[in-house]
Amino acid sequence: MEIQLWKELLDPYDQAVSELLVKFRNLKEEHRRKNLYSPIESVSGRVKTVSSILEKMQNKGISFEQMEEEVEDIAGIRIICQFVEDIERVAELIEHRSDMVIRSRKDYLANQKKSGYRSLHLIVWYTVQTIDRPKTLQVEIQIRTMAMNFWATTEHSLQYKYKGSIPPHVVEKLTRASDAIELLDQEMSQVRAEIMDAQIDSQIETNLVKDILHSIENLYRLDNKREVVKIQNEFYRIFSQHNLEELERFRRQLDIIAEGSRAQSVDTKETSFIRT
Ligand code: GTP
Ligand code: MG
Repeated sequence: MEIQLWKELLDPYDQAVSELLVKFRNLKEEHRRKNLYSPIESVSGRVKTVSSILEKMQNKGISFEQMEEEVEDIAGIRIICQFVEDIERVAELIEHRSDMVIRSRKDYLANQKKSGYRSLHLIVWYTVQTIDRPKTLQVEIQIRTMAMNFWATTEHSLQYKYKGSIPPHVVEKLTRASDAIELLDQEMSQVRAEIMDAQIDSQIETNLVKDILHSIENLYRLDNKREVVKIQNEFYRIFSQHNLEELERFRRQLDIIAEGSRAQSVDTKETSFIRT
């Protein structure tokens, strides 16, 4: 009989969680950079502790040989969305990726658990590269709204407190709270379109301001500094109006100025080159 080398076994799972955190956070950022609404609000992840793995194996009669196959949530990623509709969009994003393959899907939204738990779970195959070889392992991805997450986190704490057997009067409160959460998510869906627009506008403004300031700084290096100070003051004036169209127009004007100033600077360089 050999002993179980837990660290060696869990290291690739640790790597998978770290990589996936980066990938999903980037996915959110990519939406922002492209002025698109991101269905991902936040992402977290963890590797199951040895004690929790052992407990699950004992409860379900899983042997060490079956462990990696049967314990699907050794690596866990949690994706939090603002709206119920975003959950399916995240699932689609995952489905279309080439670096993970969906093994199974547990839809606790269509089929809410008796406890009141709601969430979409995808078990995916994901490959990490180790020194010796690639290793393909399972990752459980839980996708839920902020409201569902609030409920699940609270219920989980209570399960922990009551060691799995929550008293009936508390169960009843939790069931009512779960219904309220579902209603809340429905109510929030009604304002989704408006909130999406507002977020996109705010993102467009952020990106425009970044572009404008970048152009102004470049101009400052090349051009008449006093003129550029005037341009910056004009930018502050326009910014205070909070009008996206005006900001957009200002950026286009700046582009034209920058174009002219670049052309001039190339001219000067060329003539000075000819002179020497
Ligand atoms: P475990 O529940 O993890 O033993 O595995 P399982 O094979 O029964 O899978 P299931 O899909 O039921 O649960 C997977 C995970 O979903 C759990 O580890 C929890 O994180 C979460 N989950 C499932 N049911 C509940 C629930 O009733 N309450 C809370 N708070 N979380 C739940
Ligand atoms: Mg379970």
